[in-house]
Amino acid sequence: MLRIAGLSFAASMFAAAAQAASPPALYTAAQATAGAAVYTQSCAMCHGANLAGGAAPALVGSGFTPAGTTIGSVFTVLSQQMPASVPGSLTHTQYEDIMAYVLQKNGYPAGSTAISYDKATSDTTPLVSQAK
Ligand code: HEC
Repeated sequence: MLRIAGLSFAASMFAAAAQAASPPALYTAAQATAGAAVYTQSCAMCHGANLAGGAAPALVGSGFTPAGTTIGSVFTVLSQQMPASVPGSLTHTQYEDIMAYVLQKNGYPAGSTAISYDKATSDTTPLVSQAK
């Protein structure tokens, strides 16, 4: 009995530790799905399918999130300087959706709170890609 209790205690501690280490949920699944479509239309020609890079740098992996990268720093570039050919030309909703897709591709989980344009611009949450 004692041994079983000890095991389950260890298991729950492990679950708690894994949860603490996992990145926060910052967007909804619906946003990421919509963002994938906008990305394909407005970004993929330079940044590549699957964000892997091409004429422009990859938007996935550790090279994309050097130390000091935040949600706000990426979102500001993305929403004010992209698409490089016509900066700021998309709607706020489209930029929110693309950011959700970028977060999803970098290993961030979807949740119940939508990412918002105004909050994302000044969000100091560190962005650390979970993708290789
Ligand atoms: C016409 C080509 C082109 C298109 C289209 C384009 N980009 Fe870019 N993007 C670039 C280039 C080139 C850079 C690198 C700029 C630099 O290093 O100064 C860049 C940089 C970025 C960065 C910063 C990357 C980093 O490592 O800091 C982000 C984020 C980004 N683009 C997102 C997007 C998104 C999202 C879209 C679609 C809405 C998009 N881009 C469309 C050419 C493009």
